[in-house]
Amino acid sequence: MREEVIRAGEILQQWGVVALPTETVYGLAADARNDIAVRKVFKLKGRPSFNPLIVHVKDLEAAEQIGHFSEVARHLVQVFWPGPLTLVVPLKKEAGISGLVTAGLDTIALRSPAHPLAQMVLSQSGLALAAPSANVSGTVSPTSAEHVRQGLPDVDFVLDGGATAKGLESTIVQMGEGDKEIILLRPGPITIEALEAACGIKVVSLEQDQDAPVSPGALLKHYSPKAAVRLFAQDHRPGEGVLGFGAETVGRDVPFYNLSEQEDLNEAAQRLFAGLHWMDAQGVSGIAVRPIPNQGIGLAINDRLRRAAAQ
Ligand code: TXA
Ligand code: MG
Repeated sequence: MREEVIRAGEILQQWGVVALPTETVYGLAADARNDIAVRKVFKLKGRPSFNPLIVHVKDLEAAEQIGHFSEVARHLVQVFWPGPLTLVVPLKKEAGISGLVTAGLDTIALRSPAHPLAQMVLSQSGLALAAPSANVSGTVSPTSAEHVRQGLPDVDFVLDGGATAKGLESTIVQMGEGDKEIILLRPGPITIEALEAACGIKVVSLEQDQDAPVSPGALLKHYSPKAAVRLFAQDHRPGEGVLGFGAETVGRDVPFYNLSEQEDLNEAAQRLFAGLHWMDAQGVSGIAVRPIPNQGIGLAINDRLRRAAAQ
């Protein structure tokens, strides 16, 4: 792996794009300070230019060169980094981050990924890396190198780190006025309960205005497999595969993918996108999804499923 990490670092330093594993999903990385490199990411993904990217950094010290951290923001980072928590903080203009990365906003989304390969590439390249999920905009996020190669065959270099551990994108938060509350912009592996326990401050979910969302990527339609997704399914209909949860029997005779036999929500999160990719590979016309409890990381699972089901 050592040579591949060196190669990835070189490509990134030469304004190239590399797909790499994080603990959440695979990212499509580029030097965040280089317009040409960042433009390639938008182009490969077919991503609308108004949707800003998360910048990945080695640690808090690197993050503080790019954004302003309040006391509570710094505390959250100390508890959860490296890990699947992204903070949206005021941007330091002098940091030289490409305006394409922030889509012209005066804030920036920052996170330090926990995956050892991502950390090695950050160290090796010495760069801050803008990296959205490594999929075509609007499609299901990749949790394996194979998903990346299928969805984005034109990416030059894919660093293979196996299946990702968390399976869902990072939790995104922003501090409210005067650090009085934490605003949840996207649910993810770091749960509301964990955030509140870490700093004793209430987490509020932002009802995002669909016409002008605070987090522009929170547009409803997203994560869409080719097959139509039907939620809270109690039965299965002709042509559908079944995405199961628990030791159940519904749909075992059609394409069936169990998110978790043991009803373990972390396992279900880890397997969710792989399950959606698998369903498309079976050629089903629809996916009947069995009910999944809306607690802990279940909130993030249901958030992704709702978007996958949106017309
Ligand atoms: O786990 C993850 O976060 C993965 C891995 C690769 O790190 N990345 C990821 O990136 O999910 P992406 O681009 O698929 O989602 C980034 C989200 C988008 O919804 C975007 O709108 C939001 O972050 N975002 C980025 N910058 C923002 C900002 N300044 N203010 C509000 N939202 C922002
Ligand atoms: Mg994405």
